[in-house]
Amino acid sequence: MIQILKPSIFILTIGILTSSCHNNHVQISGTKKTVTGYYHEQYRPQYHFSPESGWMNDPNGLVYYEGEYHLFYQYYPDSIVWGPMHWGHAVSRDLIHWKHLPVALSPDSLGYIFSGSVVIDINNTSGFGSVEKPPMVAIFTYHDPVLEKSGSNTFQSQGIAFSLDKGRSWTKYSGNPVLKNPGIRDFRDPKMFWNPDVKKWELIMAVKDRVHIYSSADMKTWTFESEFGKDIGAHGGVWECPDLFPIKIAWTEVVKWVMLVSINPGGPNGGSATQYFTGNFDGHKFVPDETEVKWVDLGRDNYAGVTWSNIPENDGRRIFIGWMSNWDYATVVPATSWRSASTIPRELILLLDNGHYFLTSLPLSELGGLRIKSDTASVRMQTFNGEKEIPTRNVSLMQSELLFGFELTSSPSDTVGIILENSNKEKLIIGYSKSHKQFYVDRRAAGNSGFSKEFGRISTAPYDAGPVLKLHLFIDASSVEVFVDDGRLVMTNLIFPGEKFTNLKLFSKGGAGLLNKAVIIGLSGIWPACE
Ligand code: FRU
Repeated sequence: MIQILKPSIFILTIGILTSSCHNNHVQISGTKKTVTGYYHEQYRPQYHFSPESGWMNDPNGLVYYEGEYHLFYQYYPDSIVWGPMHWGHAVSRDLIHWKHLPVALSPDSLGYIFSGSVVIDINNTSGFGSVEKPPMVAIFTYHDPVLEKSGSNTFQSQGIAFSLDKGRSWTKYSGNPVLKNPGIRDFRDPKMFWNPDVKKWELIMAVKDRVHIYSSADMKTWTFESEFGKDIGAHGGVWECPDLFPIKIAWTEVVKWVMLVSINPGGPNGGSATQYFTGNFDGHKFVPDETEVKWVDLGRDNYAGVTWSNIPENDGRRIFIGWMSNWDYATVVPATSWRSASTIPRELILLLDNGHYFLTSLPLSELGGLRIKSDTASVRMQTFNGEKEIPTRNVSLMQSELLFGFELTSSPSDTVGIILENSNKEKLIIGYSKSHKQFYVDRRAAGNSGFSKEFGRISTAPYDAGPVLKLHLFIDASSVEVFVDDGRLVMTNLIFPGEKFTNLKLFSKGGAGLLNKAVIIGLSGIWPACE
């Protein structure tokens, strides 16, 4: 269904509008200047990626090539609710500032273009380019809505396309689909990678309640290798958007394999979420280390996240980005001309701790470049009992990075945390309870939540903190991403406060808390200014 787009409007009463923004929507009327402000609508993230207009969901085809990080994404340009899927496209030189490019892939007679991945075919195994001019090859799911309506189970299959001009234009392979549907309704989201150990392309894809692994010499003919997951991991919903990659255990040269699997519903706090497995992979079969269910992010709003391919060896990071929403309410969250954003990019790090593997996430170091030096407030060591306001020196909390250290062992309190509040008395509460060994983000009273009964909930996570609890937060217009203790626990949540949060408080329950330090840093936006 096509929906009429209604851009949000804010009023400027002074100044003449000149603007260098591309594709902006500035109108001047009478003495008041009405601006549908490019990237300034209510709730528009200022330093996260979001499409200019239309609907977005999963990140797709994350690949680095010749100085550019590509971000393709599930996109429906004609509406702000999900519809016939295209691949939107943006590129960045630093993973922070993005340039929008035209739609890369559009639906055709085989169906909509669902999620998938992109590789650089350096040796031209596909024959789509040459060794001198290696093709960029995309593999994606064709979702045929006509077949689906007819009651058939075979409406999802995999197709490929290639580009010889750095992703600017694409040609679909005439022999599509390259992987036909074997009669299973959920058969999608291929992530392809070159495996030097077996000198083949490998592909992992979601097949209902498990993943399938295939291999190929040329990306056109695929051989089934193995399946994984039927009796392991979380199974509250269908499996989607897997990823599989090698990663060194931090501070060692030992390589493990990590598998990411998104699941919807069945997340730890309801709806969509992404679990992971660590293990070994010999090019044919994945063997997990442990059976315990582990989550990449315990918030409500980090889904379908996958990692960049072809990151140069001298960088070597495993870089992840997710879709910052949840299928429980994604299509009805407050929105104007666009809907949804991506998470901040994160570096995944594998830790080995007491014989157990943990995948941790850190905000990508490049985000440091957004810090506004003159817009920083530091708060010194202090005790607090109950609620205590701390000065923010007018740093805009809604576009900020916050760091806190709470001394747990050396303070009598049971629960400590922070509260962000606005003049409407809406508040976001983030806390940790020693006795419950639980961390939480409570957005129940943080603003608009009436659009879905699933939204206004508290997110909790079992967590056993050490003597000091470190919080690292990123707040941006309508989201809060919390990294606890260097990413050992991550919670990403959307919020829709009616007014900006302007007050920051520390709080304790069950006795006084001890803050060792806090820093509040304003972050600059990434979209062109329109003034
Ligand atoms: C995950 C997902 C994928 C699918 C895409 C369709 O959010 O359901 O499994 O390919 O979205 O837009």
